[in-house]
Amino acid sequence: MDRNAALALLKEHVTTESLLGHCLATAAVMKGLAKELGEDENLWELIGILHDIDFQEIEEDMEKHGEVGYEILKAAGISDEIALPIRYHNHMLHECEYTTPVEICLQTADSVSGLVIACAYVKGGKITDVSTKTVTKKYKAASFAAGCDRSRIAMSDVLLPRERMYEIAIAEITAIKDELGLC
Ligand SMILES: [Fe+2]
Repeated sequence: MDRNAALALLKEHVTTESLLGHCLATAAVMKGLAKELGEDENLWELIGILHDIDFQEIEEDMEKHGEVGYEILKAAGISDEIALPIRYHNHMLHECEYTTPVEICLQTADSVSGLVIACAYVKGGKITDVSTKTVTKKYKAASFAAGCDRSRIAMSDVLLPRERMYEIAIAEITAIKDELGLC
């Protein structure tokens, strides 16, 4: 499966711009983290693209998040290598069960992508004005982008230094800024 095929599958289930953007940004961070850690970039990017495929269909019933996604992916013939990390990424159901790099990084990417994009919004949508210093400062401001769970962002600390993770997240989101409507 390639990026376009994953995106096409995602778009069969997700229609809102904001959720599509979130999936793309999470995927970009996943790809960058995979490269940094010597993991499979393509695989991790696909996991990022597809991780919230069920989000509109579950209609905010978070008990179903991940499980419904898994069913959708299996019905589409997607391998467990992709589908299982997605099945278990709902931290409300599976907190504390993340041990593999891909599971840990999906928690981090899912949350840090939102924080970095929120940092760009306060700079008039200019991701190019966001630095690791900006993100570090906003991470500490708990009320800023409060939905971006700081404890999930911090999970990758066991794998790479925080500042390096921010550097990667900013660079990878910058690389797809046009797709995200940022400048
Ligand atoms: Fe997500």
